Amino acid sequence: MSTESQSGPRVYLETYGCQMNIADSQTVNAVLRRAGYSSAERPEDADVILLNTCAIREHAEERVLGRLSDLARLKSRRPELKLGLLGCMAQHNRATLVEKASYLDLVAGPDSYRRLPEMLRNASFDPAVDVRLDRGETYADITPDHDGSIRAYVTAMRGCDKFCTFCVVPYVRGRERSIAPDDLLREIRELAARGVKEIVLLGQTVNAYRHGASDFGALLRMVARVDGVERIRFTSPHPSDINDSLIDAMTTEPKVQPYLHLPVQSGSDRILAAMDRGYTVAEYCSLVERLRRAIPALALSTDIIVGFHGEDDSDFRATLSLVAEIGYDSAFTFKYSVRENTRAHKLGDSVSDEEKGRRLSELIALQEKISLDRNLTNIGQLFKVLVEGPARRGNAMLAGKTPQFKTAVFPAVEGIRVGATIAVRVESATAHSLICSLVA
Ligand code: 5AD
Ligand code: SF4
Repeated sequence: MSTESQSGPRVYLETYGCQMNIADSQTVNAVLRRAGYSSAERPEDADVILLNTCAIREHAEERVLGRLSDLARLKSRRPELKLGLLGCMAQHNRATLVEKASYLDLVAGPDSYRRLPEMLRNASFDPAVDVRLDRGETYADITPDHDGSIRAYVTAMRGCDKFCTFCVVPYVRGRERSIAPDDLLREIRELAARGVKEIVLLGQTVNAYRHGASDFGALLRMVARVDGVERIRFTSPHPSDINDSLIDAMTTEPKVQPYLHLPVQSGSDRILAAMDRGYTVAEYCSLVERLRRAIPALALSTDIIVGFHGEDDSDFRATLSLVAEIGYDSAFTFKYSVRENTRAHKLGDSVSDEEKGRRLSELIALQEKISLDRNLTNIGQLFKVLVEGPARRGNAMLAGKTPQFKTAVFPAVEGIRVGATIAVRVESATAHSLICSLVA
């Protein structure tokens, strides 16, 4: 949101959870800016405080509840301050939230952001609550406020129809809907004109994208035609929705980067069936084989849940072997968290928290070793890196991503601009980054 016009009421917006939420917050900022609001950098300076939240695991919700009670203290000093909860947690806890957090003025689910200005006007004695899910809402006409970086996240589809038994997303984000290619291309052209070099197409199952005759592969080819866009990525594809059209776009469009985040969740067929993921371990492995054959430079990451209900030691060992067999470049790993409303809720939670913790540590240790080994094989190789800015480690280093979405750090030499693509050589590696020199 613009910080230039300091006229209207000031909003402080904090975002939790996935990239979809980061993108949604940019839509929220655009809606509020249009309605005359400006943004506040700190909660202390705001007239309205909004938290855009995640409900995927209990831990995510606990963090937000803790933060909310901190912010409620500000409100007790300034009763006119409005406090609102947005997003998945608002949707998930709609029945109990206003009771649990009586200081909330506003509760809005992911399909209600268009109505925020009206809700803020009405939130007075009673909180304004809008948690209707709307199969038609795509916010296609609202251009999100971009944060000015060289990478932009663009929501291509919303919602999810997969209903994996552990997952709350279909209940809080509603049914799958894709945004028309024309609307997406208009937004992407505007972003490119403002200096964005990398577009990341988003969707809970982004490759389930379909609009008219266009599937996801067709969308990738259209985005690749946009001048100024240099790199295209997308997240997260579902293994069951990978088709020839998508693989073809990845092999024939040089702008589409050789990286896939391909959530597997478990390496045990029994658990995959209980999760209703729609594939077996063998099917997943042959998909990976097909992808690697088509795209030799491909890097792969994944999501894995440990301790799903009924997961015994042999199931967990199967996950470890799959991880070793595939050799992921990186993995996001989670302890299973039972979520209300999901199909697995009624099954129970057979693995203790200690055992989940033990399995998680073992899995993380294995993946760290694999990530390091894979990164070490990059030593001596050349990569093109899109320069993003100062490296986190500081000391005169810059950072950017390789095509495989690995973090490369390299010396900050004069004349290297953010947004430029440069060539680097990998000199050494950790499990999480490639330390590089510049190639003339
Ligand atoms: N418990 C733990 N992890 C979960 N995820 C989704 N639902 C749950 C849950 N109930 C993980 C999955 C998904 C990622 C975004 O979050 O691995 O891919
Ligand atoms: Fe959740 Fe499964 Fe949909 Fe992913 S595909 S958002 S895990 S229900």
